[in-house]
Amino acid sequence: MKFEKRQDLIRAYIDFFKSKGHKEIPSSSLIPEHDPTVLFTTAGMHPLVPFLLGQKHSLGKRLVDVQKCIRTQDIEEVGDPVHHTFFEMLGNWSLGDYFKKEAIEYSFEFLTKTLKLPLDRLAVSVFAGDKDAPKDQDSAQTWKRLGIPESRIAYLPKKNNWWGPAGETGPCGPDTEMFYWSPNSKKAPKKFDPDDDNWVEIWNDVLMQYEKTREEKYIPLKQQNVDTGMGVERTLAVLNGLEDNYQTSIFSPVIKEIEKISKNKYEGNEKAMRIIADHVRAATFILGDQRGIKPSNVGQGYVLRRLIRRAIRYGRILGIGNNFTSIVAKSILPIYPDYQELHRNHSFISEQLDEEENKFKETLEKGLKKFNELAKDKIITGKEAFLLFQSFGFPIEMTQELADEKEIKIDLEEYNEEFKKHQDLSRETSAGVFKSGLADNSEATKKLHTATHLLNEALRKVLDKNIHQKGSNITPERLRFDFNFPRKLTEEEIKKVEDWVNKRIQEALPIYREEIPLQDALKSGAQAEFGAKYPELVSIYTIGDKNWASKEICTGPHVSNTRELKHFKIIKEESVAAGIRRIKATVG
Ligand code: ALA
Repeated sequence: MKFEKRQDLIRAYIDFFKSKGHKEIPSSSLIPEHDPTVLFTTAGMHPLVPFLLGQKHSLGKRLVDVQKCIRTQDIEEVGDPVHHTFFEMLGNWSLGDYFKKEAIEYSFEFLTKTLKLPLDRLAVSVFAGDKDAPKDQDSAQTWKRLGIPESRIAYLPKKNNWWGPAGETGPCGPDTEMFYWSPNSKKAPKKFDPDDDNWVEIWNDVLMQYEKTREEKYIPLKQQNVDTGMGVERTLAVLNGLEDNYQTSIFSPVIKEIEKISKNKYEGNEKAMRIIADHVRAATFILGDQRGIKPSNVGQGYVLRRLIRRAIRYGRILGIGNNFTSIVAKSILPIYPDYQELHRNHSFISEQLDEEENKFKETLEKGLKKFNELAKDKIITGKEAFLLFQSFGFPIEMTQELADEKEIKIDLEEYNEEFKKHQDLSRETSAGVFKSGLADNSEATKKLHTATHLLNEALRKVLDKNIHQKGSNITPERLRFDFNFPRKLTEEEIKKVEDWVNKRIQEALPIYREEIPLQDALKSGAQAEFGAKYPELVSIYTIGDKNWASKEICTGPHVSNTRELKHFKIIKEESVAAGIRRIKATVG
């Protein structure tokens, strides 16, 4: 079998794990719904956290998927042959079912039999052991039994061979990683040196058996899980004998388009072209997501803005004069026929890219001129960096990058002070924004999640039965709920909505969870989010008994009785876009 296209690899992976009793689940949104600590889905395990913590999944204990992911921590590395902000991750999960031995056997079989990667180009790493967990002899033994020689096994500390929690707390564990010797021209050395970049990591099996607590303790999880991640881009490159991911069929049409627009060759302009291809691809996926986001100065919208503006700056370096990001985006869409949301939202993607490019084009030239003037002093003060942000639209990270290129400093502390002073923006846009994290299943979040279901129903009961959820976000302090409605709510309406929810709280209604086929769930009147993809079997949460108050397709978690919410209060009602209102509310 040939693996020319990304779909060839994805199909082979999913079919392989299906043949081993796994059920395929759809890719979740790039924007995590119930996770206040992170802006984007950063790994396949992200949407599965409740199940890794012990909740039952409607499709059983063995799952497989390909998940769209965004990681912005390594954004500065994009430009080299292997780094990306957006990428696809293949993953197989055992939720308290098989563990180390089978996970490693499956990985080995898939790599050597299905993908036919030669054994003499493979190496692995396992956890060396420390005070929190012992050396992972079991995994090493399994690899050896399968044929990996001891010299190709590296024993590494937590820094390298431990995965998660993605946030501050949550499921985690030692991992075992698989590497492939990529240079065609050189024979793989006998001994595996994990510091040698010629060994490319292609897959990671996380042996999840701990939960990290707020007190930084590692306590055993209720169940032993397996969480794996294989990067589609890297593996496809390896399978095609390429050392540059951007030369695979995932990127070659995009690079060709950039060559055409810029009238330049890829050779000699690799860095700029890779950055443009990568960032426009990430922007296309964020804009085209089922919970699509627009460029803005907060949260995900700010990351999106940064990506687009950085691509524009590199376009300028290549001498591109006209709008080009939407043209590049058009060359990306045919590579992903399987993400229907991109195709459904293609005009929104183009419009938003054009709009953002028009906005930034006007100030980029002037801003660069200003920056060069300011740079003469060898230091950019916080006030100046803020001016570049406010008047010229330069994200601070862009100013930082420009300063790095000139080897001058920026007073970031002063910038942050300025920023706080001038704008009532959430902490999200300052330094901590790119930290990833995991849903915390705290009581506060559970209560707000249940309150969200009640609010969703209350709006339909009080205002209009055609109201549907357009977005939701929960932090431990408040819930946020977006819905379609053409105008501002009156005081009286707000009061009625609150009263409806508080009545359900006083009634002390029980909350049930059941698993039923998607079609039956929809027939039963359960709410589903527009545009979201669901598996064939879904879990629905019902609040109340016979004359239930709310029914929604949802992964949870929820409290078990509405009385736990005590009291519901709307703290804000506002517009977020034409025809979309937003409510923020608290409980307790
Ligand atoms: N969650 C693991 C990773 O992202 C598989 O590498």
